[in-house]
Amino acid sequence: MTNQEPAVHVQMMPEFQKDSVRIKNPQRVEEIICGLIKGGAAKLQIITDFDMTLSRFSYQGRRCPTCHNVIDNCRLVTDECQKKLLQLKEKYYSIEVDPDLTVEQKYPFMVEWYTKSHGLLVEQGIPRDKLREIVAESDVMLKEGYQNFFDKLKQHKIPVFIFSAGIGDVLEEVIRQAGVYHPNVKVVSNFMDFDENGVLKGFKGELIHVFNKHDGALKNTEYFNQLKDNSNIILLGDSQGDLRMADGVANVENILKIGYLNDRVDELLEKYMDSYDIVLVKEESLELANSILQKIL
Ligand code: TMP
Ligand code: MG
Repeated sequence: MTNQEPAVHVQMMPEFQKDSVRIKNPQRVEEIICGLIKGGAAKLQIITDFDMTLSRFSYQGRRCPTCHNVIDNCRLVTDECQKKLLQLKEKYYSIEVDPDLTVEQKYPFMVEWYTKSHGLLVEQGIPRDKLREIVAESDVMLKEGYQNFFDKLKQHKIPVFIFSAGIGDVLEEVIRQAGVYHPNVKVVSNFMDFDENGVLKGFKGELIHVFNKHDGALKNTEYFNQLKDNSNIILLGDSQGDLRMADGVANVENILKIGYLNDRVDELLEKYMDSYDIVLVKEESLELANSILQKIL
């Protein structure tokens, strides 16, 4: 590092002192943050997952819903269907977070989960015009500090790419209702397809699941090509699959990967610390990301 470059000492930042913050290589993190500060707003872009990253994993000891669960749990889904969706979740979520399986081993099970669960949702004939109400009545919650996060990024016109294997229509409604769906935010996800009566008939485009974000990222090269100068990235995720979300970026100068580790912490911590620059264990806020943005912007 030359003398002109800004120095950052993470041990001086209170947000880094919490027990939930785990960093394998603090010096490397400081170097990356220095690079982000040097590039400023002009070079920055955010690439983030949604479920359990921007949204909460739990609140007051209770699990919070994913985009899918918002629909699963709504009044329009029959009890019998809810039971089936719950059984699917129990089987496949355990596979999603199984520390003893590789991403390659998990991959076909994720395709199976999505195919079965989307099939069940289609059978329920969900009407498009009920989505607003469904989201408003759900227990979905964004992480603490979301307002600050989105408002600061809007203020500085920083591109935010939300890349989710959830349900796009639900996701958009959640951030719209929270008042943070600003023009600098782009959502790529699984979007519902409705028939001429506005009833759910399927999902558009190719399926995005937890472990094919690499392929999805490469399909969005047009978006990333427009952001050729935005070579500094903050990536936020909660799954090993989320590490591939920036694979479509043409020119990466500095990338800071922040990973939320919500479940099976003891078994997964080492793997997360090896792959994410900063790991946040059972953390329900965005304050660490906000503290870094504060330094850059
Ligand atoms: P994400 O990419 O925004 O995190 O969204 C994917 C999450 O959705 C992932 O953790 C699995 C979860 N999911 C459900 O909760 N229910 C379902 O039926 C399916 C297919 C996925
Ligand atoms: Mg997630």
